[in-house]
Amino acid sequence: MLKIKIPASTANLGSGFDSLGIALNLYNYIEIGPALGCEISSADGSEIPTGEDNLVYLSAKKVFEKCGLPFRGLKIVEENHIPFARGLGSSSACIAGGVFGANELLGRPFTKDELLDIAAEIEGHPDNVSPALLGGFTANAMEGRSVRYVKSEVPENLSFAAFVPPFELKTADARAVMPAEVSLKDSVFNVSRSALLTASFLSGKFENLRTACDDKLHQPYRLPLIPGGTEIIEKSYKNGALAAYISGAGSTMMAIFDYGNEKAEAIAEEILSSGDFSGWKYFILNADNSGTAVL
Ligand code: HSE
Repeated sequence: MLKIKIPASTANLGSGFDSLGIALNLYNYIEIGPALGCEISSADGSEIPTGEDNLVYLSAKKVFEKCGLPFRGLKIVEENHIPFARGLGSSSACIAGGVFGANELLGRPFTKDELLDIAAEIEGHPDNVSPALLGGFTANAMEGRSVRYVKSEVPENLSFAAFVPPFELKTADARAVMPAEVSLKDSVFNVSRSALLTASFLSGKFENLRTACDDKLHQPYRLPLIPGGTEIIEKSYKNGALAAYISGAGSTMMAIFDYGNEKAEAIAEEILSSGDFSGWKYFILNADNSGTAVL
């Protein structure tokens, strides 16, 4: 059995809808090895699908199929720490772990870039699977079925305060509230900001992030699904956040600080104790610059 470590990820970063993402140092682990049939269990007691619809299994199977190799089954043991359906890339972690694990078992027939194409095809968009596989900050665009991307390392001094509410938000539901068409004005608002955000991350001009992460494509429609979300953005900025936005499709709200983790933690504590945030919790995270790896 191989043991694999897969990071959480925060996608969109506000303005970079379906394009930008950052890997975070909160991890799922999977053990994966050959078996006759489907043998799936959880090492941490969490409830996971144990049939062939399990996302790790399904993603690994896809790699066997792409190779044209017979697939007899797999044994998978999952240890999950990334909260489920909270906008922290739990599905992408399953997909990244599955494709990466299968590729290792098969003696690496695919490059990491090819694995990313397979993972993005399964997920439907690249902004979580790309940082989950590669680590760091990634800017991504789909060219047909291929992901074109740039990866850049994220400095250690950035703290990511993930405010996790007690309710799930399924990506499909969070996408359903978005309009099918947007105005040219809103498009320009987001194109300019996602360009600024990418350039600011690559050059370290983090003072631009507050402007750069602002968004008119998805957050205005999704924030009503996250009671307390707007308040967290406002309070984070009052406390000097560089950026504050919905992580991925939600329901987690993310704030980025450059004060060090200890101060970021004190701020997160204060924010959650200052309003009606019953059941919310927080994680203080840093970027993971390595991505999915064998342990
Ligand atoms: N870009 C995706 C969305 C991320 O916002 O719907 C969630 O998978």
